[in-house]
Amino acid sequence: MEITFYGQNTLHILIKDTYVLVDPFISGNPLAKDQVDISKLKADYILLTHAHEDHVLDAEAIAKNTGATIVSNYEIAMYYQSKGIKVHPMNHGGKWNFDFGTVKYVNAIHTSSFADGSNGGQPGGFVIEGALKTIYIAGDTALTMDMKLIPMYTTLDLAILPIGDNFTMGVDDAIIASDFVECKEVLGVHYDTFGYIEIDHKKAKQKFEDAGKTLTLLEIGEKISLS
Ligand code: NI
Ligand code: MN
Repeated sequence: MEITFYGQNTLHILIKDTYVLVDPFISGNPLAKDQVDISKLKADYILLTHAHEDHVLDAEAIAKNTGATIVSNYEIAMYYQSKGIKVHPMNHGGKWNFDFGTVKYVNAIHTSSFADGSNGGQPGGFVIEGALKTIYIAGDTALTMDMKLIPMYTTLDLAILPIGDNFTMGVDDAIIASDFVECKEVLGVHYDTFGYIEIDHKKAKQKFEDAGKTLTLLEIGEKISLS
């Protein structure tokens, strides 16, 4: 499993030979837009955690370009189905065996309206079990006790957690979240894109290290391999 970071919560995950794109927000991201050509991005599936623009802005264009299937909550799936895009609707607590692995849509505490005011249902995160590795993509969320449920049914190799604060958890809560999900390996997301969520990278990494955990922060376009 290979995970490339394209800023905010945009993750391009290669599982065997399947491309899973998460929360594509590139053309509106000042940190990413000049570095990533969305017309060249491969995608078989596009997973959307919730409907906020900084998670879905490029989903329609990339889905139409690639023929990818959008996987999200029921309301978001219906929104894109009405635009002629292939969708797979899910809802909280449900899982499905896709060809690349099993996906479970899990709880997040946040909001989820589309920029045009359409109903984006309730926000979520994803637990993906694929190619022998298991990851948790929290999406935008507060620290929540529901995270404690995850290690009751799976063992995570990586937790992908928001750390930018203001709209989501910050670093201190993300450290507690990594306790709750029982995973010491954390990839930080949802930071630096806007003034509200700028963070001190060194300080953030040090705090995780002091707690006996590892925080990885990737440059735009940088990737990590789980093997
Ligand atoms: Ni959001
Ligand atoms: Mn967001």
